[in-house]
Amino acid sequence: MRCTKCKGTASIELRRHHSAFCKPHYLEFFDRQVERAIRRHKMFAPDDHILVGVSGGKDSLTLWDYLLRNEYNCTGLHIHLGIGDYSDNSFDRTASFAREREASLITVDLAESYGMGVPELSNALRRVPCSGCGLSKRYILNKEAFDRGFDVVAMGHNLDDEAATLMGNVLHWEVGSLARQQPALPSNRDTLIKRVKPLYTMTEREVAANAILRGIDYVEEECPNSVGARSIVYKNALDDIEAKSPGTKHGFVSTFLDRIRPVMETSQEDFDLRECTICGQATTGEVCAFCRMWQQARAKKEKSSKTHG
Ligand code: AMP
Ligand code: FES
Ligand code: ZN
Ligand code: ZN
Repeated sequence: MRCTKCKGTASIELRRHHSAFCKPHYLEFFDRQVERAIRRHKMFAPDDHILVGVSGGKDSLTLWDYLLRNEYNCTGLHIHLGIGDYSDNSFDRTASFAREREASLITVDLAESYGMGVPELSNALRRVPCSGCGLSKRYILNKEAFDRGFDVVAMGHNLDDEAATLMGNVLHWEVGSLARQQPALPSNRDTLIKRVKPLYTMTEREVAANAILRGIDYVEEECPNSVGARSIVYKNALDDIEAKSPGTKHGFVSTFLDRIRPVMETSQEDFDLRECTICGQATTGEVCAFCRMWQQARAKKEKSSKTHG
């Protein structure tokens, strides 16, 4: 297999682009695609202060590495979720990445700041861990960005993540989520910080190839709670389709963004947002979903500690 650009030995074949690249040309290609996504959706300006959500996995470390190499003004935020060894390893990789590059990193420990880690929160709520975890991640990233004066929050979602989310939203006709699914979600209120996904055009495999070729030391293990998750079922189904018809994932997401979502925007409910009476963040009700969840979890934890002595 030969590199499409220089005819040297190729390291990776990209069937959906009918091309193959050697290491330097692949890295060049990857950066160009990310840069194009950032520009196309006006994700951030050169002097914006960016808060990057960093899990320690290949996607968020690749994103942070890209932003640092391109001299963006960025800081990492890692949330320690308290999921046993998985969380400890994730934190270690994130911290050593930051140390090696002298990048600034903020860490929030869920249990220390809010009283429970993900497993305890899920026990108290009797809900699957991922729901409280996802809500907490989104909330904390936004809140820290707001409190610390960042202009934008950047997340590492890749094309596989976006295609799986889109598939789930379509299969269950989650109209509100569909209307909000976009690579650059603008800030529509002071307390809601703009949220962007610069890697949304790159597949999981392409991001992993970039991370490996750049020598990024990332956590390979998946969160133990992801076993059997619906998103994995959708990802596997999409992988099967992509194998037979390369480019399907990209077509699915890009056609939705270019042709379908703009039509939905006009039908999007004009939510009457106000301030959460507890934390002040934007919400459609009196109390935001995050504060409601923690109120319930704390009440249930207290009740069960009383009944169990
Ligand atoms: P996930 O929902 O695990 O697929 O993660 C999607 C994105 O959320 C990642 O690419 C990160 O930008 C962000 N993220 C996930 N986990 C964490 C974490 N523990 N701390 C900070 N950001 C995170
Ligand atoms: Fe949140 Fe797995 S990372 S439950
Ligand atoms: Zn080449
Ligand atoms: Zn709140």
